[in-house]
Parts: sequence; structure tokens; C-alpha cells
Amino acid sequence: FAWTDENQRRANEILARYPKGREQSASIPFLDLAQRQVGAETGTQGWLPIPVIEFVARQIGVAYIRVYEVATFYTMFNLAPVGRYHVQVCGTTPCLLRGSDDVLAACKNKGLNKGKTTPDGLFTLTEVECLGSCASAPMVQINDDNYEDLDYDRTMAILNALEAGENPKAGTQEPGRHTVEPYGGV
Ligand code: FES
Repeated sequence: FAWTDENQRRANEILARYPKGREQSASIPFLDLAQRQVGAETGTQGWLPIPVIEFVARQIGVAYIRVYEVATFYTMFNLAPVGRYHVQVCGTTPCLLRGSDDVLAACKNKGLNKGKTTPDGLFTLTEVECLGSCASAPMVQINDDNYEDLDYDRTMAILNALEAGENPKAGTQEPGRHTVEPYGGV
């Protein structure tokens, strides 16, 4: 594994944000960049094979285990291949109380099973903890987009649209409601 030219430029920019001797601070942005590069190369949302984690560790001059422990702690890093659409359903209490079971039921009826990728490689379903959009629960993050104020039918419509190669509108699915930006839109 090696950075593409474009990602080498980005990696240099990232490293320049941190003081000399603090390169380890780049662990998360480097893992993110590497995962996205693997994704771009495989037509998926990317993942982090061990040689890629080793590469990141070498880039920032720390032991492999220091980067591995970061990669295994955060659910946004995938340690196994995922599909083209990584469907992350929030199952934490506010979303649960507002119907995340219905979201999961729609996923299940669409053939998505927790922790699995569909045989066509299109969807991977993961249940995750709070993603910070509780005000518009229940919600799901698909790749880099949030879909909020979901119910069974809205979830099914989004999955059907993605399957059809369409680009369903992200944000709240409640007509007339505005999407709440996390952290006040900062
Ligand atoms: Fe689901 Fe916070 S509980 S976004």
C-alpha cells in the first residue's frame, strides 16, 4: 500500500497541522484517508487491512499497535471489507424509543443482516451507537450522509433508491422539517 499522489499531498497537509514529534496525532485522519483510498480502489466504502494499518504506523513513526488500537476503537473504521453502501443504524436509546426497530426491520426485509454484506456487495449493515442526531431520531448514516426522522417506509424507500442507482436526498425525511446540523452547524 502507498498513497496515491493526491493522497500524498493530503497526507502532507494533515501532518503539517501538528507540531514536530506529535505525528501520532495524525492517526485518525491518516486511517480515514487510507480507508477512503482503499474504498476508491475497490468501489466500496473501504476498510483497513493489516498492511494498510502498518503503512499508517510507519508514516507517523509509531508502533503498529498504537494505530491498531485506534482503528479497533472507532466504529467508523472498518476492519473487514464493506459494501458500496455502509448502512449504520443508530440503536442507542433515543433512536430506539423513536423506532430504530422499524428501521432495522426495513433493512432486514431488504435482505440486510447485521454485520453482513449483501451477496451483491451493495449493502453492509452495522448497528452503531449514538451518531449525534438524536433530535431527529431515528436515524441512519449511509456512507457520509445522515438520513433522519425515519420510519419503516422511509427507510425502505431510501434503500430502494440506492439499489436503483439513485441519489436519495439526505437529511430529515420529515416533510417541512429542517435538518438539524450537529454542533449547531459549526
Ligand atoms: Fe441515535 Fe443519538 S441516539 S443519533
